[in-house]
Parts: sequence; C-alpha cells; structure tokens
Amino acid sequence: MAVIETKGLVKTFGKLRALDGLDLEVDAGQVYGFIGPNGAGKTTTIRVLLGSYKATSGSAQVFGKDVWRESTSIHEEVAYVPGDVSLWPNMSGGEVIDFFLRLREKSGPAWDAAQKRRAELIKNFELDPTKKCRSYSKGNRQKVALVAALASDVDLYLFDEPTSGLDPLMEKVFQSYVAEIKAAGKTILLSSHILSEVERLCDSVGIIRKGKLVEHGTLAELRQRWEVEGEALPSLEEVFMKQYGDEIHISGEEDDNEMHKSIFAQYLPKKKAGDR
Ligand SMILES: Nc1ncnc2c1ncn2[C@@H]1O[C@H](COP(=O)(O)OP(=O)(O)O)[C@@H](O)[C@H]1O
Ligand SMILES: [Mg+2]
Repeated sequence: MAVIETKGLVKTFGKLRALDGLDLEVDAGQVYGFIGPNGAGKTTTIRVLLGSYKATSGSAQVFGKDVWRESTSIHEEVAYVPGDVSLWPNMSGGEVIDFFLRLREKSGPAWDAAQKRRAELIKNFELDPTKKCRSYSKGNRQKVALVAALASDVDLYLFDEPTSGLDPLMEKVFQSYVAEIKAAGKTILLSSHILSEVERLCDSVGIIRKGKLVEHGTLAELRQRWEVEGEALPSLEEVFMKQYGDEIHISGEEDDNEMHKSIFAQYLPKKKAGDR
C-alpha cells in the first residue's frame, strides 16, 4: 500500500513552478531516499505533504487521506524533522521535546515508553536538555527535533535533510535509529543530499529535478538501468550525475550553487582555465 502518493502535483510561487507535476509513491515499510540539489523541490514537497502549503493543482495523499483537508488526522501518525529547526528561545530543549511528545500521549504506557526512549536518545545524541533553546547551536537545535521525532511512535517519519549541522558521529547515531525504525516496519521519507547516507539506508530512491521526479526505483534497479556494458555497476552518485551532469559546472570561480561545489565536485570533470 502507498503511504505517500502524489499525482501531477504542482506548486507555484508566483511565476516559479517549484513542483511541476510531481508523481511520488512511497510504499508502507519503505525507507525512501528523496534526493536532488538545493532548489529542486524537496522541502516544498514535504511541506505540501504536511499541509503547510496548499498545492496549486494535482493530488497528494498520505495514508490515503487528502493532505490539505485531512491534515489534522494525518499529523497524529507523522513525525517531522525540518532541515533548519527553529525553536522557542525561552524554553529548554527538554521542554520542547515534551511539548511535542504530549501532542500524542499525555500519560499511560505509551507516554512511559516515549519517556524511556527520550532519555536514551538524549544520551546517544549527547544533548543537554536543560539549556534554553536560544543558546543552542544549529546542530543542537537539530538534535532537539530529532529526539522529539525519534521518540514518537508513529507510522510515518518525514526527514528533510535532518543531519545538516550534525557531525559525522551524530550522523551515525541518526542512521542507527533509522535502521531501528525501519526494522519496526515504519515508513520513512528521507530527503538528503548526502548520497552515501541514502545509499546506506534507503530501499528506494527518487531523484527530483526542477519539481519533477526524473528517476525512481530500488537502488539495484537504478544501478542496472544506468549500467554501461563492460563496466562496473554505477554508484548512486554516478546515477545521480546522469540526471544532473549537464546542469552542473564547476568553474573554479564564482558559482551560484555552493552545494554543487562541495558535494558533487569530486564526481565532476574539472573545467579548464579559460572555459566559460
Ligand atoms: N515560500 C516560498 N516562496 C517562494 N519561493 C519558494 C518558497 N519555498 C520554496 N521556493 C522556491 O521553490 C523552489 C524549490 O525549493 P525547495 O522546495 O526549498 O527545494 P529543495 O528543498 O529541494 O532545496 C526553489 O526555487 C525555491 O526558491
Ligand atoms: Mg530543502
């Protein structure tokens, strides 16, 4: 069964078509890697799924329910971590986490289980929950949102570049929790530009470009689809570059997309001096 299904999803901001007929399908129990560089439409998609943006046209359903009209009931079974977490400056991290957990449970065995998990997560992510949110770094704010989401027992987890700002050690902690959630049969949409993370964690991958899904399938399917005879199966990075190679150029001078430079530079042919 599809937990997430969008058909011909369009979202415009003025003249800009952030989503341009997106067809996305994520089945129950999958860890789905949603990849694409900055501006491709990942966050917009997730915000439409959360009912924070109203789609311009097309359809979007979560658990078979319309994301706009039935967003309240969808939220009961969804945990979300944005890529850039903002928190209430006067609350402590622990208070924020409990605030989110109380939206679902207030007492009883489920509350006790969430509290137990909360304690374990705080320890593993090395978060000091007593500090006021205003004093947290970006990485610590990210940890607060991760603890709140991962301590929640829900059916669907939406992670939008959740490890931005975390060091590699904490990224590993996050990955082990994703594996745990997956083993429990939950569904995860993981938007990321860390392709190695997606390669490690995800069953299926969708590549988004300019608001359209240009490639999707299991990792094995994608690698086979782009196999070149006589060569080793391509990595996810190489598959990704088949979709984006024409668009990304490294000039060595000013570049309008820093992320392309940092993340993908190693896979790209260097432009020669004098090239434009
Ligand atoms: N609230 C908004 N108002 C205007 N433009 C937006 C808004 N949100 C996103 N966009 C634009 O929509 C496109 C897709 O953005 P986004 O979904 O954030 O991409 P991604 O998450 O893949 O980096 C970008 O061109 C971005 O500038
Ligand atoms: Mg984004």
